[in-house]
Amino acid sequence: MKPKLWGGRFKKNTNKLVEEFTSSLSFDRRLYKYDIKGSIAHVKMLSKCKIISPDEAAKIEEGLSEIYREIEAGKFVFDVADEDIHMAIERALIDKIGSVGGKLHTARSRNDQVSLDVRLYLKDEIKIISELVLGLQQELIQLAKNNVEVILPGYTHLQRAQPILFSHHLMAYFFMLERDFERLKDCYRRTDVMTLGAGALAGTTFPIDREHVANELGFSRVSENSLDSVADRDFIVEFLSAASIIMVHLSRFCEELILWCSSEFDFIELDDAFTTGSSIMPQKKNPDVAELIRGKSGRIFGHLMGLLTVLKALPMAYNRDLQEDKEGLFDSVDTLKLVLETFTGMIGSMETKGENMKKAAKGGFANATDVADYLTVKGIPFRESHEIAGKIVASCIDKGCCLSDLSLSAFKNFSPHFDEDIFQIINIKNSLGRKMSFGGTSPKSVEKQMAIAEKILKEEQAWLTPG
Ligand code: ARG
Repeated sequence: MKPKLWGGRFKKNTNKLVEEFTSSLSFDRRLYKYDIKGSIAHVKMLSKCKIISPDEAAKIEEGLSEIYREIEAGKFVFDVADEDIHMAIERALIDKIGSVGGKLHTARSRNDQVSLDVRLYLKDEIKIISELVLGLQQELIQLAKNNVEVILPGYTHLQRAQPILFSHHLMAYFFMLERDFERLKDCYRRTDVMTLGAGALAGTTFPIDREHVANELGFSRVSENSLDSVADRDFIVEFLSAASIIMVHLSRFCEELILWCSSEFDFIELDDAFTTGSSIMPQKKNPDVAELIRGKSGRIFGHLMGLLTVLKALPMAYNRDLQEDKEGLFDSVDTLKLVLETFTGMIGSMETKGENMKKAAKGGFANATDVADYLTVKGIPFRESHEIAGKIVASCIDKGCCLSDLSLSAFKNFSPHFDEDIFQIINIKNSLGRKMSFGGTSPKSVEKQMAIAEKILKEEQAWLTPG
């Protein structure tokens, strides 16, 4: 058995099972790029601050770069006995360049090192995910533009409520995703803090320069308190919570797509390339992608709950429990990226059945509120207008017709205030055209939303690619 890098005070070897139980190498090896990048910045700073010599620093940097290339090429041998990626790399460095490699860990602990690595990793991933969110928002605007005139019933309680524009419905999701983007951006701000230099928990006696490391690695600032630096996983909780909310939004949309592509609704058809068949029922074309996205929300919510539970009773500062932060984070990042890409492809390729949507908007008395509003404008208190409109609807249900099938005299039977213009009022297109309030569903209001959306996209783009 190889001696441990921390083996000095131990008289016995580690139990084999304990070695496996405590090892995080199988999953934290994905941090290698960040671990090496962080180590190089650290070693440069050690040399600049005259804690090690420039010659030693150069040797260490060279060794680390070589290890990086070996891992990239798949030539690096990972050994569970090394416990985690930090020790695997440090051991390989010492093997490669000799005992001078042992100077790398001066003025540092794995506790601040792991925090640094995860922060570097998550900063990159947040940008990638934000870009995918932006791509989805662009797809939504495109879809809204292609369907500006399409009318569908708006629902409350999943009962037809009032006619709306399909583009209005799509823009609702645009604005949800805008909040998601903002949350990612905000979470990025608190991830973008350099924690190396906290040591194990109390800081270090060496005259280090933390600002220098922060600059080298592109961090906006350094953390103020060493205990907080090694114990804090709030930035991961925030990310998982932002990820969970994105999944809520996509899951709600998926639920609608699943309903809409059923024969009962028949509002859309998902593309063959984004659906799957049944192994027994030849007629089936199933919305499995949408269902899986809805289903995968569960695992991301689970990772959020998992981490909150890990953190809730931890005393200051670092505790090994914190190693449990990684698998859930990695899985959430992987899942979310895949979900966003697939979802964008699915809605970009679906066919909208505008005629069916319109037919549904005409049925179900989605224009009954317009009848009530009409009478209200004529001076009847809204409560009474509501009652009259309700009675008219009931009579239509008895007759099996819709409001526009009634004659003027039929309307007049319910109130003398009805005139010929009621037919203009209950026309579906006119009905939604009058919803001109800011944020409403009239074509003019939706146009305004789209103009705002274009501006938002530019701002998001500027954040992603500054300068
Ligand atoms: N693998 C550990 C983690 O992920 C790194 C820090 C371990 N520190 C320690 N003193 N055991 O949290």
